[in-house]
Amino acid sequence: MNKLNKFYEKNTNQRILALKEAGIISNETFEKLSNDDLRLNEISDKLIENQISNYELPYGVALNFLVNNKEYVIPMAIEEPSVIAAASYSAKIIKENGGFISKMPQKYICGQIAFTEYENINKIDENKNELIDFIYQNNPAIKNYGKIIDIKYEIKDIFLIVYLIIDSGEAMGANMMNTALESLSNKIKDMINGEILISIISNYGNYSVVESEFKIHTSSLDKNNFKGIDIAKKIVLANRLAKADIYRATTHNKGIMNGITAAVIASGNDFRAIEASIHSFATKSGKYQPLTDYYLENEYLIGKISLPMLIGTVGASITSHPMARLSKEITKCENAKEYSQLIAAVGLAQNFAALRALVSEGIQKGHMKLHYKSMALNSGATIEEIPTILEKIKNLKIIDTDIIKNIIKDLREKGA
Ligand code: MEV
Repeated sequence: MNKLNKFYEKNTNQRILALKEAGIISNETFEKLSNDDLRLNEISDKLIENQISNYELPYGVALNFLVNNKEYVIPMAIEEPSVIAAASYSAKIIKENGGFISKMPQKYICGQIAFTEYENINKIDENKNELIDFIYQNNPAIKNYGKIIDIKYEIKDIFLIVYLIIDSGEAMGANMMNTALESLSNKIKDMINGEILISIISNYGNYSVVESEFKIHTSSLDKNNFKGIDIAKKIVLANRLAKADIYRATTHNKGIMNGITAAVIASGNDFRAIEASIHSFATKSGKYQPLTDYYLENEYLIGKISLPMLIGTVGASITSHPMARLSKEITKCENAKEYSQLIAAVGLAQNFAALRALVSEGIQKGHMKLHYKSMALNSGATIEEIPTILEKIKNLKIIDTDIIKNIIKDLREKGA
């Protein structure tokens, strides 16, 4: 992985080459990436209706992730500056302290059938085994790739709601679930003389919770005039603030979602489903809460995140999207649980970076530096010229493209 040193200082082609040399991507992928040959063109017409073009996002990689003692490079698709830099920065501190420990005991999906009329509901329990056999017989996908975990029901308001819980294996499982629910709903309808209202997967992810945590020595947070222990105490307070105030909790979780959504988009999964499940999970206590927790243990800061993660590593959009395939190659994740554990670590790293900056120098400094860097590159500067340009604009009150272009011109005239 030391082939990836100073990755951010390289240009795009050099970064692709470094990934190949570090053994992260194959020669074939290297050729394709270098020739910008991983486009969606041929398949996008088949993915959606009325397709006329593709909407692209910048795709980058977060570095320094050590999760469960394994090193990872994590692809992220996002238009916002600083996010990938921030994740990589805090992942580095965490790696130096032993890395993230992530776990995901189970990855089950839940679907529901809501009835507005029903009688003899105990027949559902009495015939549970028969119902399970019926689903297996009528849904080969479940038989081959998944497993039925349970069928249960609850009465809420005027509704009888039957829940089907499935282990969907490597698939996210929405299609598997919805197909199963359609046949099951009619079977139960006959059994209880019911009237079906809807049958659909639930995106509430309480059966697929992933956790990640780290423990760092507070001296790792020493920076310039800021003492690590003081920063750590303020990070704990900042998390407490998010518990107390929904205005802060929402922004706190937004920062987490910067990392999560970017990593989920890169993985080719349905990020709307992930976002819905995570935000509803954040209200599980009855109050919208931060997804993270921090506390001090002597000289150590402990950070934790807990959130649902319902992703797959197979399925139509994942298998056919060249960038999703590239992400699988880059992460080298063996299964969806492993990928989920990585994504949870990204969310925690993102939050840790945001809180660390917010309670010390603020986020604008780093953010604006990156912003000016991209302004300079867009104004024609080379990577080598960037440090000098940033130094020259450091104390200016007004900075725009014309000023940067003049600095570049000046630099080159003097250099010539
Ligand atoms: C900006 O995209 C995200 C932050 O606002 C998150 C936070 O405040 O924790 C920096």
